[in-house]
Amino acid sequence: MTEFIKALPKTELHIHIEGSLEPGMMFELAKKNKIEIPYKTVEEVKAAYEFSNLQDFLDIYYAGAKVLITQEDFYDLTWAYILKCREDNIVHTEIFFDPQTHTERGIAFETVILGIKKALDNAQKEFDISSKIIMCFLRHLSQESAIETYEESLPFHEYIDGVGLDSSELNNPPSKFQDVFKRAKEDGLRLVAHAGEEADVSYIYEALDILEVERIDHGVQAIHSNELMQRLKEEQIPLTVCPHSNVSLKVFSSMEKHNLKTMLGEGILVTINSDDPAYFNGYLNDNFYSIYQSLNLSKKEILQLVRNSFEASFMSNSQKESYFKELDAIDLN
Ligand code: ADE
Ligand code: ZN
Repeated sequence: MTEFIKALPKTELHIHIEGSLEPGMMFELAKKNKIEIPYKTVEEVKAAYEFSNLQDFLDIYYAGAKVLITQEDFYDLTWAYILKCREDNIVHTEIFFDPQTHTERGIAFETVILGIKKALDNAQKEFDISSKIIMCFLRHLSQESAIETYEESLPFHEYIDGVGLDSSELNNPPSKFQDVFKRAKEDGLRLVAHAGEEADVSYIYEALDILEVERIDHGVQAIHSNELMQRLKEEQIPLTVCPHSNVSLKVFSSMEKHNLKTMLGEGILVTINSDDPAYFNGYLNDNFYSIYQSLNLSKKEILQLVRNSFEASFMSNSQKESYFKELDAIDLN
């Protein structure tokens, strides 16, 4: 089965580029940029990656991101992820970045976006890996800060395909960001938001009805409302589910308890993603291997999950169709 998974062309729709910062690179960059980090060895960093909830993780994740200073750092970070895409046979990726994590430390918006964009252009050129860039607003900050960030992003809009919403979910509902999402929509950007990762279904409803997003990032709490499950199914609203992340952050007590197989069985457009692979013990294929083992998925179910990601992506219909043809030709025996 691992060979089957590995060989499938795949799309990733939920990956925070800052979450692909491996401890080794964190150390190198800390040394180069003379930034203090609270660890002495790579082993010590890994030992710190024991989380009891989302906030626990975010505190460590934002501290780690402080080593990223120059355009070259953002290029190297993105390029290292692209090499993982190549290993995992990811042919299209839609990456999140968090501008405020960097601009709040005095790093220019331009430094961040140009480093990421150059690496993604190179990925297209060298490996034929296509991509989209989604700029996320940090929901623990104010809407004013999000609007300021949006305005800073305007000179780079040809590089930005969509906006998203991430960071501390509880007590920061989607409705807090209604105006900035409205503006992004008017400007023709695609819309997504983290919702229903830890918080209840009202956050998913708000993301859909107030922000008018096209995909829900995580969304696993939807299972607690039959009415919402019915809607997700009928409208085929994609959920970008991140199994390793959910278990690492104790959204589920074990992989065996994850609800993605149930959701898939109910006809919801579930996709599989890595979220923050350097922090959650694995990239996209590792997530597929884990769910296959723990949830006993069939080849047909794996293929459906992979197909769903192409369907839910922001790639063109013609690009989708050519991948669907490739997937349709796969032998399930
Ligand atoms: N930022 C990075 N990973 C995240 C997650 N899983 N939830 C919310 N914000 C995040
Ligand atoms: Zn996420």
